[in-house]
Amino acid sequence: MKRITLTRFLIERQRDKQLINADLRLLIETVARACKAISNAVGKGAVGGMLGGAGTDNVQGEAQKKLDVLSNDILLDANEWGGNLAALASEEMEDPHPIPTHFPKGEYLLLFDPLDGSSNIDVNVSIGTIFSVLRCPKGADGTVGDPGEKEFLQPGSKQVAAGFAVYGPTTVLVLTVGDGTHGFTLDREMGSFILTHPDIRIPEDTAEFAINMSNMRRWETPVKRYIEECLAGKTGARGKDFNMRWVASMVSDVYRILTRGGIFMYPRDDKNKAGRLRLMYEANPMAFIIEQAGGACTDGATRMLDIQPTGLHQRIAVVLGSKNEVERVAQYHAQA
Ligand code: AHG
Ligand code: MN
Ligand code: MN
Repeated sequence: MKRITLTRFLIERQRDKQLINADLRLLIETVARACKAISNAVGKGAVGGMLGGAGTDNVQGEAQKKLDVLSNDILLDANEWGGNLAALASEEMEDPHPIPTHFPKGEYLLLFDPLDGSSNIDVNVSIGTIFSVLRCPKGADGTVGDPGEKEFLQPGSKQVAAGFAVYGPTTVLVLTVGDGTHGFTLDREMGSFILTHPDIRIPEDTAEFAINMSNMRRWETPVKRYIEECLAGKTGARGKDFNMRWVASMVSDVYRILTRGGIFMYPRDDKNKAGRLRLMYEANPMAFIIEQAGGACTDGATRMLDIQPTGLHQRIAVVLGSKNEVERVAQYHAQA
């Protein structure tokens, strides 16, 4: 079998398909390189002093882990000098990060969740990185200027690329630039990502759901109805048994769904009134990746990629995965 590296995959999308330009190719390669560095750090674990808290809180008031801070620094350092970005935004930074004045600016905006699944770091369960790329709107003078939050607030349908890495038994990178969803596995000896899962397709039907069941008493009625029907199994309304998985790292739960189908939900509830996950750097990139693999993603009422964001760190309800199940949950919301 021919080994197709990430570099070759991207060159072909630039040269043969003209789907991306050289700046976007550099951007994706740079993010992938940063993910390799994060993967190395994650792999050192306690021996490298990687575990535990950083002793600080992020903008959402969540205690930061050392790896949250380190991963954020790695992504910033890797991306700010390339001349292809107008600004960056991260879960770990309240405001957009400007490009330092001694570097040139480019046409793209990069958003990321540097370390997804932070509660799994110290317990040696898979974690990851999620990223999303938008174009920066230009001002009247034809330049990108100094982009602030406003420039980032574009619906997910405007993304030009999205991806995520999972640091698990293997390190994988999943990517879309709008022509399908493709998976790469890190060859650790060579240090390169190899295309191992081309054109991923999610089965339209599934008998596996992922949700944090400890929140059940707090859910909205349509979500309760859907899960109760799954739990009722063969003799219930659905007439089949369902299995459940919940890794508590969205990257791993989504990767499983890309591999064998399933439905993932983090609904609104009495505690997380707007939802728990973040629209701009968790829900939107995953929605783009899932749709490109034939799945669907909604907040219950609206297709995720059609939602107009109102804040950089806005939270949202997420239902994603196998199309027919996601549509069923949306129907239950519409009927309620
Ligand atoms: P992060 O570590 O970036 O804050 O995100 C964690 C998210 C997501 O990955 C996961 O699906 C969810 O939080 C888990 O939430 P619970 O702990 O409520 O299960
Ligand atoms: Mn996250
Ligand atoms: Mn995170």
